[in-house]
Amino acid sequence: MQKIKIAIAGQGNYISSIYLMLKVVPEVEITGVYCIGDSEFHQMSVGENVPVTTELDGLKTGSIDVLILSGIDEKTEGFIRGLVSPYVSVIDQKAVDLIKLILKEEEQLLEFKKIQRKLTFILNSVHEAIEVADINGNIIYVNPAFTKVTGIPEHERIGKNILEVSPDGALATVLKTGKDIFGLRTKVGGSNSEVVSNAAPVIVDGRISGGVVVFQHLTDVMKLMDELRQKTSLIENLSEKLGQVTTSKYSFNDILGTSPDFSKSINLAERSSKSNSTVLLLGESGTGKELFAHAIHHASPRREKPFIKVNCAAIPENLLESEFFGYAKGAFTGAIKSKIGKFELANGGTIFLDEIGDMSLSLQGKLLRVLQEMEFERVGGNLTIKVDVRVIAATNRNLRDLIRQGKFREDLYYRLNVVEITIPPLRHHKEDLPMLSNSLIIKLNRKLGKKVIGLSRDAEEALYSYDWPGNVRELENAIERVMVTVDDEIITKENLIQHVSQFKNISEKDLDLIPIDRMEQILIRKALLKFGNTVEGKKIAAQALNISLATLYNKLKKGRPENKV
Ligand SMILES: Nc1ncnc2c1ncn2[C@@H]1O[C@H](COP(=O)(O)OP(=O)(O)OP(=O)(O)O)[C@@H](O)[C@H]1O
Ligand SMILES: [Mg+2]
Repeated sequence: MQKIKIAIAGQGNYISSIYLMLKVVPEVEITGVYCIGDSEFHQMSVGENVPVTTELDGLKTGSIDVLILSGIDEKTEGFIRGLVSPYVSVIDQKAVDLIKLILKEEEQLLEFKKIQRKLTFILNSVHEAIEVADINGNIIYVNPAFTKVTGIPEHERIGKNILEVSPDGALATVLKTGKDIFGLRTKVGGSNSEVVSNAAPVIVDGRISGGVVVFQHLTDVMKLMDELRQKTSLIENLSEKLGQVTTSKYSFNDILGTSPDFSKSINLAERSSKSNSTVLLLGESGTGKELFAHAIHHASPRREKPFIKVNCAAIPENLLESEFFGYAKGAFTGAIKSKIGKFELANGGTIFLDEIGDMSLSLQGKLLRVLQEMEFERVGGNLTIKVDVRVIAATNRNLRDLIRQGKFREDLYYRLNVVEITIPPLRHHKEDLPMLSNSLIIKLNRKLGKKVIGLSRDAEEALYSYDWPGNVRELENAIERVMVTVDDEIITKENLIQHVSQFKNISEKDLDLIPIDRMEQILIRKALLKFGNTVEGKKIAAQALNISLATLYNKLKKGRPENKV
């Protein structure tokens, strides 16, 4: 192919850009770049890459098809035009400007094409269907996912009007109202697909120029929602489980007592912890049944697994079953999610059924089945759940009596008392009192920030002479009551009498047997302890005892050891 021979003439910086632009066009041969004026100056302004000349002879003699003129005045232009043959086409400054404009447009167009390619790639790869319409509702674009979701091919959709084919859809509504739409559940016009759409107007320069809708198949959305719901309920269940799972807090080291009777119970409990047998703990309130249950679990091979306590007396009858076995979603009104029962929580570990004697007969039947089969169904569910749970039950009630009264199932009783451990009441092992009270004092010193060393002899005797119907718990409460109020290092009998109601009765019992003047002295001392052994305190004490201050002094004098006969 014959190349177009082009000469460029004009001022440096103008012609250099033209030169650089044309240099790369294969159809063009540049025959010369002619600078008008000072060559050094021009070479500087055009740069090293442009071979310039100031000799205009080439224009006269060289073969040229096109002469491009740029950056020169009219006079110079006329002069140069005169140099070249009249057959040479001349492109002057105006034409150059026009060409530059066209080239710039083309450059922008190329840039647009690049962006368009990228956008098409993105729109083609999304899974959501996309449909775009102009302001009049003419459908101008659908992506491949649109066809997948709706079954409508692109060529059947483009060119149709959305206001006609899907007048109630999200896209048509956006065009009509100019407002965004979220999560609209509709059928795509012209197809049977149910979809969930989001749509928005397309705004260019502040004006609506069309609309775009993005939608997904309803089943896809439902699937996602279902998955989300399942995951959420799984998380809820796990976190609920996590919150409820507890492990044993006490070990056999925490159980104090060395009396023969008490040691027998401990030995039996220790032996039972090595097996999987069901244990029935019997004993009065406060004897340590719960403590034993913890210790048995703690010493058993299940110690790392959950220890779950259920207080059968504290849970309302109608909730106990779901508490034990959990319930399935929708089991009853309000059951929006399923719940794990205590037996499931205890899987692998131990369940401690406290106050078992207070359970209803119907539930006793259900419990019996679980103990026999170690499987159950959640309330309202039909899935059978199998568990491996060790059972420890406890009660302070006499189960044999309850059986006789028809309030406790005999078969359940025999199921439960594979190993029966009876914990003796405190009054049967009073020899353990000093050990128990001393360890309590140490524990309470830490808790209350006190420095109590121990009990006085008469205090110990007072503890001994009491029957402790509330057992160790009552002892704990009594000592704590004294320690909260007294700052002495030794707890005396007097302290017990003053602060623990049980001992007030003892002291009255003691007073029955003493001479009247001894009783007077006790009362006076009690009053002074209360109001203070000062002049002011004595005045108030006298008033409280209903005697004159003088009488009080008198009686005090009589009470002094040297005055005793
Ligand atoms: N032998 C013991 N050594 C140390 N502390 C004990 C002992 N026995 C009981 N206790 C303490 O006495 C309190 C009552 O014990 P626990 O709760 O185990 O009694 P319980 O038999 O379950 O009573 P209830 O029948 O009223 O539920 C607890 O604080 C426990 O730590
Ligand atoms: Mg208990």
